[in-house]
Amino acid sequence: MHTNPVSPLLQLQGLQIAYGGIQAVKGIDLELFKGELVCLIGANGAGKTTTLNAIAGVLPLAGGEIRYNGDRINAVPAHKRLRQGIALVPEGRGIFTRLTVEENLRMGAYTRTDKDGIEADLEKVYTMLPRVKERLPQVAGTLSGGEQQMVAIGRALLSRPRLLLLDEPSMGLAPLVVEKIFEVVQSVAKEGVTILLVEQNANLALEFAQRGYVMESGKVTLTGSGESLLADPKVRAAYLGEAA
Ligand SMILES: Nc1ncnc2c1ncn2[C@@H]1O[C@H](COP(=O)(O)OP(=O)(O)OP(=O)(O)O)[C@@H](O)[C@H]1O
Ligand SMILES: [Mg+2]
Repeated sequence: MHTNPVSPLLQLQGLQIAYGGIQAVKGIDLELFKGELVCLIGANGAGKTTTLNAIAGVLPLAGGEIRYNGDRINAVPAHKRLRQGIALVPEGRGIFTRLTVEENLRMGAYTRTDKDGIEADLEKVYTMLPRVKERLPQVAGTLSGGEQQMVAIGRALLSRPRLLLLDEPSMGLAPLVVEKIFEVVQSVAKEGVTILLVEQNANLALEFAQRGYVMESGKVTLTGSGESLLADPKVRAAYLGEAA
């Protein structure tokens, strides 16, 4: 693969996804450039999780295409996408509750064979997430919600992603913990990882992201810089609890 500096790392064109006969995503376009932190916001059921899962390759497409680094990856299975650098932190975190924290982290590297690289990346994760390092032998199911989210992010980082897909990392967490998680997300972005962040917490997401997309009923209805969306009266009315 060669990289054209101006071509997007990820490009969705007319993406359609259906469950049975019901269309959940109805032809969306989205672009993500290398190094960007972009958020996808929208109400319950808008199709955000469906979109992320399709990018990760765990859901088939009903139409349209996904281009990654210039290549059409519609038919590439999920484990190969992971090896190509697309990592998903799923809604609800998806950690292995009976395994230890360290085992969970190492699972993230299951497609890799470069032992030294894995150890180096573990050290990086420990530096970024000292709280996780303190709890390596603990069974992951006994961690707090915030700690579990950090383990889920750490596990994804162990695949050495180029594109990190985060599905509602703030869900169910107290404000202070959410802040901590967002600091981690930002430090991951600073390392050069491109991030697509799904959030219901629109205020926070738009503050952190350079750009955002708003989804409604399976369609992208609005896109722009984080700042412009935060100031948009439609966004404020729909997602930030203000009167229109
Ligand atoms: N496995 C499934 N089978 C059938 N329909 C589904 C399935 N998963 C999701 N849907 C439907 O697809 C639509 C989009 O769901 P999705 O989970 O992508 O929304 P979302 O934007 O992530 O919402 P939330 O903010 O609540 O997580 C919804 O109408 C949902 O009911
Ligand atoms: Mg969702």
